[in-house]
Amino acid sequence: MHASNALNPQSPQARAIYDLGIVSAIVFVLIFAIVTGAILYAIFRFRGHEGELDPKQFAGSERVEIIWTAIPFLIVVFLFVLTLRGMNRADPPPAPSPDLIVTGHQFWWEAQYPATGAVTANEIHIPVGKPLSVRLDSKDVLHEFWVPELARKMSNVPGQPNHIWIQADKPGTYIGQCSEFCGTQHAWMRILVVADEPSKFEEWQQAQLQPAQAATSDIAAKGLAVFQTSTCINCHAIRGVPGAVADAAPDLTHIASRRQLGAGILENSPANMRLWLKNPQHIKPGVLMPDFNFTDQQLDELGGYLGTLR
Ligand code: CUA
Repeated sequence: MHASNALNPQSPQARAIYDLGIVSAIVFVLIFAIVTGAILYAIFRFRGHEGELDPKQFAGSERVEIIWTAIPFLIVVFLFVLTLRGMNRADPPPAPSPDLIVTGHQFWWEAQYPATGAVTANEIHIPVGKPLSVRLDSKDVLHEFWVPELARKMSNVPGQPNHIWIQADKPGTYIGQCSEFCGTQHAWMRILVVADEPSKFEEWQQAQLQPAQAATSDIAAKGLAVFQTSTCINCHAIRGVPGAVADAAPDLTHIASRRQLGAGILENSPANMRLWLKNPQHIKPGVLMPDFNFTDQQLDELGGYLGTLR
């Protein structure tokens, strides 16, 4: 996993934006160099000396004025045409039905795959090489979905879905970040996009569609009981567990298969899961999950159960 880098495009959409940026930058640097060069030349070449008379004054030259109006106009037209081309490549109209719906919540991302019904959180898997039409929603406030290497940046607006296209050329993991201040834990609203070969992606999706692993061990059964009798069940879904259908917090059906906890704040390991359950407000202050003051035994049981949900 590497940090995200807008100057390292890994999809046709991101490359269109990058190319436009580079060409624009070259034009701006050239203009800067020409203007600065002309000023410096004038300063040194035509420096005034003691006792010299003022140079000859003249005002107005139709030819010069036409030239210095036409050149900037042509530059603007050139950039305008390039921008239109870039927009067509980076941001074509959305597909009639989205391949993926990403919903911003304080402070995590819900990802749904409407064609199959798969649901996950924060870790979004996509098949390599396939452009996906993504609908962006929000459940509460403004968020902004941005995975710089794969797609443009776009706001998640409550009640007003936006659309982008996302794609990855190569398998790998790509990091994104909520880019619109949305509350105390805005900074810990990471997006992890995992691009898999199509067959591996299909495997992942099929696994996500399965109901949760039944609690077979004693400790897992006790952990499930903790989940059901504490208020966890009011916010989190676990498919296959009666009554666990809420979507106010991440779906936990396959939580153990995900790489991170708390939208990127912790690597997902049994020890970190226990830490998180023990004191989420300490790890991610302001997260909507309260501290439950679980006993050590409850933490072992609940953590043990969640650890089986692969
Ligand atoms: Cu969500 Cu910032």
